[in-house]
Amino acid sequence: SNEPFTSYGSGSDERSKLIVAVAEMEKNAPYEVHPNVNGVDVPGEVTQTQENPFKHAIKLAAYSHASPELVAKAIQGALQAKKMWLKTSLHDRAAVFYRAAALLQGPYKYQMMAATMIGQGKNAYQADIDCVAESIDFLRFFPALAEGLYKNQPPINAANVWNRTEVRPLDGMVYAISPFNFTALAVNLVLAPLIVGNVVIWKPSPGAIYSSWLFHKIMIEAGLPAGVVQFFPGDAEEVTTQVFESRDLSALHFTGSTAVFRNLAAKIGAKMDFWTSYVRLVGETGGKNFHLLHLTANVRNAALKTIRASFEYQGQKCSACSRAYVPASLAKEFKSILVKETQKLTMGDSFTDFIGPVISRAAFTRVSKYIADAKADPEITLLAGGECDDSVGYYIRPTVIESKNPKSKFMVEEVFGPFLCIYVYEDSIYGPELYELIDTTTEYALSGAIFASDRAAIIEATEELRFSAGNFYINDQCTGAMPGQQPFGGSRGSGTNDKAGTAGLLTRFVSQRTIKENF
Ligand code: ALA
Repeated sequence: SNEPFTSYGSGSDERSKLIVAVAEMEKNAPYEVHPNVNGVDVPGEVTQTQENPFKHAIKLAAYSHASPELVAKAIQGALQAKKMWLKTSLHDRAAVFYRAAALLQGPYKYQMMAATMIGQGKNAYQADIDCVAESIDFLRFFPALAEGLYKNQPPINAANVWNRTEVRPLDGMVYAISPFNFTALAVNLVLAPLIVGNVVIWKPSPGAIYSSWLFHKIMIEAGLPAGVVQFFPGDAEEVTTQVFESRDLSALHFTGSTAVFRNLAAKIGAKMDFWTSYVRLVGETGGKNFHLLHLTANVRNAALKTIRASFEYQGQKCSACSRAYVPASLAKEFKSILVKETQKLTMGDSFTDFIGPVISRAAFTRVSKYIADAKADPEITLLAGGECDDSVGYYIRPTVIESKNPKSKFMVEEVFGPFLCIYVYEDSIYGPELYELIDTTTEYALSGAIFASDRAAIIEATEELRFSAGNFYINDQCTGAMPGQQPFGGSRGSGTNDKAGTAGLLTRFVSQRTIKENF
């Protein structure tokens, strides 16, 4: 079962402990973070900082870059460590995972919560569902899922023959590049290759340096042998360039932007004859996720779910809703609830407020620019929000706009912030014309939702929007996929759709050998 969420309600013990952990971490920051190669931190000159986006004057971590020589050494070390790791039994690998889950649930829980809240700009609830609950789920589910793979043997043996398959890791190493927005996604990116015997060169996001470093420390403390995961904060391009110098790259495991993944894929494709194996590309990338209201939608439910999907964690979930299609006959009621409730959302603090900051100055600048462009656009009406303030932290009020043009850039491009664009459609276009519009407006296909009471409408939308989203929700928000319940991932420009935390994902990191034996 899923790890239960913790409540940090006022007056609770959990809240008091978390307040202490956050205060302590802020007081002692910045923490120096260095590459960890073969189980040892390799100090270098710290040239970069991870900011606290709530209060950007506070730096959470200061980290150093890796030299090309160090990355080369790490690759050699990883390949050496692999000789032992691939022979380690699944049960012994699982033991490391289960111990890490226990460490995260116990001694490291509040530290990890504080690192995710301060470093990634999350409130307590958003941090808990991510860096504690979902991360523990991945640690516990992967060993069980891997066991299924190992048990999956050829069903037929002829007389005097024994057929079997050996589940081998890939022939080489895996390069994992993780995002800032979910500590659990970093966990997923590293753990999936690991449980089936691979070694990983891990490059965490600059926005999640400290929680990533902490997770790596937990894995080492849980018994992960030195060199099995080589940890590289620092410049993505430098690390990537060096990793791509090695013929032993066997897979790229990536979560981040569509543009970066395409760029990396192109670099890999450009030298196909160089690699020892065909490099596997496993990526979850961008999204422009939608909510569709049918004429029979429960308007209040749809409006409240749209607010949660669009503005929880400031719209920085890959699954966040950022375009909504509303029938003209329901538009007045929908907009009225949406605007009234959005305006009630409080913004500021990680303990008391629903809304926090966006991750960085770059994110603040990007989202503010979309807001400024929207305000200047005659086809756009600003319905709520639109205020941006970076004097203390990177704060942007949850913003709702309405576009007269269903293909304006605000309906098409990923903004990755608290920014929702709605389009009011004529009731009469509901059907093929509207499905076509939703399906073809963007290059993405990550998550989406239909709100309707009419069963036939639900069935039709589910069929007609088959390829528009990898996660499709009926009368629910398009965010919040739970491991083991709603396998998560999208296709088209949103990724290779290998679904985080699943047995299907593990198959991307194994290369089976079939063995036939006569007797
Ligand atoms: N699991 C996260 C969500 O669905 C990405 O919101």
